[in-house]
Amino acid sequence: MDPIRNPYAPGAGTQPPELTGRGELLDRARVALERVRLGRPEKSFIAVGLRGVGKTVLLNRVRRMADASGYRTAFIEAHEQKSLPELLVPHVRRILLDLDQRGALSEQVKRALRVFKSFMGTVKLSYGGVDLALDIDPERGAADSGDVEADLPELFAALGRAAVARGVPVALIVDELQYLAEREMSALIMALHRVAQDGLPLMMIAAGLPQVVGLSGRSKSYAERLFDFPAIDALPAEDARTALAAPAAAEEVEFEPAAMEEIIRLTAGYPYFLQEWGYRTWNTAPASPIRRDDVLAATPLVITRLDEGFFRVRFDRLTPREKSYLRAMAELGPEPHRSGDIAERLGTGVQSVGPLRSGLIRKGMIYSPAHGDTAFTVPLFDQFMRRIMPRWPMEAHDV
Ligand SMILES: Nc1ncnc2c1ncn2[C@@H]1O[C@H](COP(=O)(O)OP(=O)(O)OP(=O)(O)O)[C@@H](O)[C@H]1O
Ligand SMILES: [Mg+2]
Repeated sequence: MDPIRNPYAPGAGTQPPELTGRGELLDRARVALERVRLGRPEKSFIAVGLRGVGKTVLLNRVRRMADASGYRTAFIEAHEQKSLPELLVPHVRRILLDLDQRGALSEQVKRALRVFKSFMGTVKLSYGGVDLALDIDPERGAADSGDVEADLPELFAALGRAAVARGVPVALIVDELQYLAEREMSALIMALHRVAQDGLPLMMIAAGLPQVVGLSGRSKSYAERLFDFPAIDALPAEDARTALAAPAAAEEVEFEPAAMEEIIRLTAGYPYFLQEWGYRTWNTAPASPIRRDDVLAATPLVITRLDEGFFRVRFDRLTPREKSYLRAMAELGPEPHRSGDIAERLGTGVQSVGPLRSGLIRKGMIYSPAHGDTAFTVPLFDQFMRRIMPRWPMEAHDV
């Protein structure tokens, strides 16, 4: 059918034509935003889910919701190679300058700018910070110790007071939260705890891979009081059907039930895969209704595309030993496995692959669903590993 009218939207963070199954989380976000605006105590949330389940899309919706209700927002994507302060600096600066311009001179806003200037003095910026100059004196001794756990709470408290002074709440929206260093996560939690205690209108809504739950370990008791960790998962069959059928219906196209069920089976309801299968099947099908044969004809094209894109970009970041580890996991099947069983497949002991496993968790490839268990963060990655390394263990590198 006409590819120009193809409604599906495979991609990282691309808004789907129909955002299904996330109503409850969006409602929670709405309530949290409104309560924080009023200075009421409220637990925020960190949505936890595997690759391609729709975390970024959800956060983008939350951001739009916050913008529309008068929040100042910062959308940050945590990054393995960048520090949290470095990521925060341009956003906090933009928000403070905006608050500064929103009315008569405010001592709270000016103080926040001075504290921010102090804070900035401690941050190494990889991009040079050319345009970040601020025409104000730093507040010596505030947020400038260089210890993020001490400085971030001070910065947030100053920012929160500036927000009160202007009657404008602030939302920090953080994606890929699992990439924060442990110390940064702890600093963030302490900073949010501080503003929550003071009833300041500054909140965070975030998302990350399942390892974020463990990452909040050191500040665990604070984290539990501040956040819930709702799971964002594959869509239940009913929502998955709607995700496919509604965009097609808007173009006056239908799916035969058998075609629909085949896609649900192949994708296991994972949003990213639903979009890919929807997209390719649409282009392959000659006319409405879309038939099961169209799905079957499109499937090899989808697999090729996934192998060259979604899976491949992750595979290319791995060392030979890491590839071997994941290949051994794939050999055991898609479900979580005991670390001991994986080591055994590799012909070695759990101790000797410990660092390898930790590295893969840091890279966001695997996580530990329960103590001693290991699972993929990328749905269907086991099948991909078997396709890309078919002759394993013959082609295995030394582990
Ligand atoms: N609720 C949904 N219904 C239908 N499609 C969705 C839904 N949520 C996300 N998608 C689609 O799934 C794909 C992946 O979404 P997104 O990039 O937000 O996932 P993610 O969880 O952030 O993945 P990653 O962990 O790789 O960053 C996009 O193509 C998006 O359009
Ligand atoms: Mg994402």
